Order: sequence, then C-alpha cells, then structure tokens
Amino acid sequence: IDALIGDGVAGRRVFVRADLNVPLADGTITDDGRIRAAVPTIARLAEAGARVVVASHLGRPKGVPDPAFSLMPVSQRLGDLLGDRAKDVSFAGDTAGEGARTTVAALGDGEVVLLENLRFHPGETSKDDAERGAFADALAGLADLYVGDGFGAVHRKHASVYDLPARLPHAAGGLIATEVGVLRKLTENVSRPYAVVLGGAKVSDKLGVIDHLLEKADRILIGGGMAYTFLAAQGHEIGDSLVQQDQIPAVRDYLRRAEERGVEFVLPVDVLTSGQFPDLSAGEPTDPATVPAHAIPAGTMGLDIGPRTRQLYAAKLADAATVFWNGPMGVFEHPDYAEGTKAVAQALLDSPAFTVVGGGDSAAAVRLLGFDENAFGHISTGGGASLEYLEGKTLPGLAALED
Ligand code: 3PG
Repeated sequence: IDALIGDGVAGRRVFVRADLNVPLADGTITDDGRIRAAVPTIARLAEAGARVVVASHLGRPKGVPDPAFSLMPVSQRLGDLLGDRAKDVSFAGDTAGEGARTTVAALGDGEVVLLENLRFHPGETSKDDAERGAFADALAGLADLYVGDGFGAVHRKHASVYDLPARLPHAAGGLIATEVGVLRKLTENVSRPYAVVLGGAKVSDKLGVIDHLLEKADRILIGGGMAYTFLAAQGHEIGDSLVQQDQIPAVRDYLRRAEERGVEFVLPVDVLTSGQFPDLSAGEPTDPATVPAHAIPAGTMGLDIGPRTRQLYAAKLADAATVFWNGPMGVFEHPDYAEGTKAVAQALLDSPAFTVVGGGDSAAAVRLLGFDENAFGHISTGGGASLEYLEGKTLPGLAALED
C-alpha cells in the first residue's frame, strides 16, 4: 500500500476489501476488533485524498438481502472510529447496484463509503467462475484501484477477494502485511520450544492444522469441545460431552504420530461438568462439578477445563519461546465456564514467549474477558485464515495480490 499511496491516490476511487465480519447481538456490535483493525488502511487512503469504497461480508446470508446481516451498524462504528481522519463516512444500501453506483459517484476526495454486505449478492460466494466474474466486473466498475486488507477472508475464493484484484491495479493493505509478517514467524525458523493451544468445538475444523503442527510444534495442548473427542479416542468415559465419533480414527492416528515424533500432546486431566448446556443469554449460575477428565459421569457434559488442567497448561506454556493459541477452552460466554479460557490468556501474558492469538473467537474472548489486547504479541483478525496459512495452503486472497 505504501507504493500505491506513493504513486498518488488523490481523487482516485480505491476499493478496500476489509473483513468487518463482527459479532452482533440484536443489531449491537459485541466486539469491534475487526473494525478497529481495518481503520488504519482506510484512514491512510482517505488522508491521502482517495475516494474510498469499503466492502466486506457479514455472517453467512444466502445470497439475498437479509436485514439481520446488514452492515449498517458497522458503518456507524466505522465512522466513529475514523473520526476526523475521513471527511465523511456514508453507507450504500446495496453492493454493486444503482444505490452503490450513485453513492460512489457522489464521493468527494477523502470521503469513505461502506457498501452493503457483499454476500447479499449470489455472485460473491458462487462456485461458478462466470457468476463470480460477473459480480467482480460490477464491483470493478465502482473503483480505479484495489486494496486487499480483509485478512480474515483471504482463505475464501470469493469474487471480492479473488476475482476483483485481477481486474484492477492492486496492493495489499497494512493489516494483511502485518498478519502475514507475524504468521511467517510461526512457519519459518520458529523459536523453540513452540507450544500450541487448540480449542473450540470441532476437531474437524482443526485437522489440517494439527497435521501441519505435528511437523512443527514441540507441544500441543488441547481444550474446548474438541478435547472430548481426544479423550474418547483414548477410551475414556466422556458422558454426554460433545464428540465427533467419525474423527476418532484420525485423532488416534495423530496421537500415534505425535508419540513417534516426540511431540507432546497434552489433554485435560480434569473438567467442569453440568447436566445441561448453560443458557448463555440468562447467565444464571449453574453449579458445575469438577471431575477427572477420564471419568465424566453419564448424563453430564464437560464444559470447561478444570483447575488442575489450568495449572498444568500454564506450566506447559511458561517456558515456551513461541505460543500460538486458537480456540476457547470452554463455554467462556458463561461465567461458570470462562476460567479455563482466562487461565490460558493469563498464561500467555505471563510467558516471555512470542505469543500469537489466532481466530475470531479467541480474539473476541480475550477482549470480552477484559484482557488488554495490546499486552499480547499479536492478535490475529483471522480465524480460518490464520489456520489455513499455518497449514501452508495457498490462500486465494493472498495469491491474487502477489503479482
Ligand atoms: C471469519 O469470521 O473467519 C471470516 O470473516 C470469514 O468468514 P466465513 O467463515 O463466513 O467465510
């Protein structure tokens, strides 16, 4: 982006593909981390006199307008965060139609418009190259230059991420440059010991990255819903805990390969359980029990790692030189099951290691649990994107910017 701005962007229409996919509850933004991360690139362009056309997806609408997924609340927050750095911030009621064309045509130098959710158009996510291409053509008509800065979406082969940059002179934005710079440190000459903490609900989302980490990491700590599939694979009683039976053979294979390679797999030794999944909206106390992880009683489910596991994980992170963390350790949205996730966040803060928090959920958890995000080495805005980067996959949104 430095070169693009250096060449002069005043008076030019610059399309910025950001990832403003933030969590919303009843139309209220509950974590604005991704909007704050998008601001510096947009602000630099506006300050350089560009007419900035910002676009993003939000959630997974089905290719038609759906008010529950409108970016309208995001445009207000973007305007607040940009403050004086942009002359004006407006919102276009559609993606590439008449409304967008008229609003973009009226933009002045240093002004910003946010388009409506790109996924309201079926061409954005289409598997059909021609359909995606036609939508990319329409978007290209709105701009002279393209800046890819939505790191969280670079693993998607979508029209605005992959096809549009081929149609306009393009550059990578500052956020993408920072994210890639940091993740590269985890894939090339990583400082050891390299410890990885993986959580979240499903093992199936993490298969690729575990495969890769068996070659790279020294220690892999498992928590969250996926831990119960590991415990089941070891033959333990897991009661009614979340389990992906079909992944058990893959998990057994990982455990075997880890042993062969000398990679330490660390699983919970105790867990917090309840007879039912807690009501997150009410947040009522649930009186969880602490039980050994190898004997979760029938009729109960594990919902967080227990106190001994918290200590064990903190100890395993204390002497690491590099830590990557993706995925919460439990149902952190309920206060009874937030301690495991808090303990891992605290262990990262206490460790002298280079720490990277990857993933929308873990990044949001860190902020919602009241931690100072600036105290972590790096909090990635990408969930799936950071995992796929670590897997060594070619990411469409980065490949499209490489030339
Ligand atoms: C994310 O939240 O990981 C990104 O915004 C991508 O969203 P998606 O998984 O719906 O494509």
